[in-house]
Amino acid sequence: MTKKKTILSGIQPSGKLHIGNYFGAMRQHIAMQEEGDSFYFLANYHSLTSLNDGQLLEEYTKDVVLDYLALGLDPNKCTFFAQSDVPQTTELAWILGCLTPVSLMEKGVAYKDKIANGLNPNIGLFTYPILQAADILIYHSDLVPVGEDQKQNIEIARDLAGKLNRAYDEELLKIPEEYIVKSVATVPGIDGRKMSKSYDNTINIFDEGKSLKKRVMSIETDSTALEEPKNPDSCNVFSLIKLFADENRQHEVAQKYRAGGYGYGHAKKELLGLIQDYFADARDRRKELENDMDYVHDVLREGGKKARERAEEVMEPIRSVTGLFRSFNYE
Ligand code: ADP
Ligand code: TRP
Repeated sequence: MTKKKTILSGIQPSGKLHIGNYFGAMRQHIAMQEEGDSFYFLANYHSLTSLNDGQLLEEYTKDVVLDYLALGLDPNKCTFFAQSDVPQTTELAWILGCLTPVSLMEKGVAYKDKIANGLNPNIGLFTYPILQAADILIYHSDLVPVGEDQKQNIEIARDLAGKLNRAYDEELLKIPEEYIVKSVATVPGIDGRKMSKSYDNTINIFDEGKSLKKRVMSIETDSTALEEPKNPDSCNVFSLIKLFADENRQHEVAQKYRAGGYGYGHAKKELLGLIQDYFADARDRRKELENDMDYVHDVLREGGKKARERAEEVMEPIRSVTGLFRSFNYE
């Protein structure tokens, strides 16, 4: 029997998750959980690069765990854990950092984007890709399903694995294949820019009632009058409808746009109904889980233990070749 590939991906708990996160990342994670030996984690060390409020980080972490479980991540099929439960990750990140040229980080596109969007330019943010490389390499991951925006970080991880192996002349780390999920184009936010927590333009997965309605109704559209024909392909509302509706429904709505007499308000109501239906079961499951936090903690505890054991197997030989003194054993 061939060995199952190790699949790994993470998501930062730095805010409420939105439908861009769902279609761009989470849906693929959930779909792939049975395809290999899958590891999914909450990148909470990464969240510290932009969030320094302990209570808020705890709250977002809890939210993301509940979101994933409610949306169908099954801890019996994959290892689901918090990054902070695997301290070997930061240990490896330090060692990798000592082999990383500053010039490599200076080429980081995500860093420049984040600063341009007002994030505080701290060293954690600057060296974010090194920590991400450690996340990937510490489990000998084969595949890393992520969106197009993460491509550079995966290349950096491959590069750093090679640097460590060459520095100590041993195959200490496995070089992961690239794996970029291309199935979904960038999901637009209510203002037409990329939907992102940083732009306050999101529709959150578990928004409901009035607040969901308010978000959907405030999606920006052009000023074509109700009776005029409209182009669905240039409309944010239609881009979102396409994510939720089956092909027949998409076709019907597109025809209504083109025929005229169908306003953006109608389209928004259509979208609202679609979102409500799409996440209805997950919403119920999330409420049940919220009342069973012991179970949720058990999931993370078990996942953390499994992830730590795997990480330790990879870390121990690295400690040994680097010549770092140690007078105790882990676990
Ligand atoms: P945000 O921009 O809201 O801070 P993140 O950068 O934390 O989101 O992204 C988490 C994951 O969700 C990434 O894999 C990213 O590719 C995906 N993602 C985020 N926003 C979108 C979007 N608007 N469209 C598609 N995928 C997205
Ligand atoms: N940088 C990723 C994001 O913003 C999150 C992340 C952290 C990640 N470590 C990772 C993704 C390791 C894949 C593998 O979405």
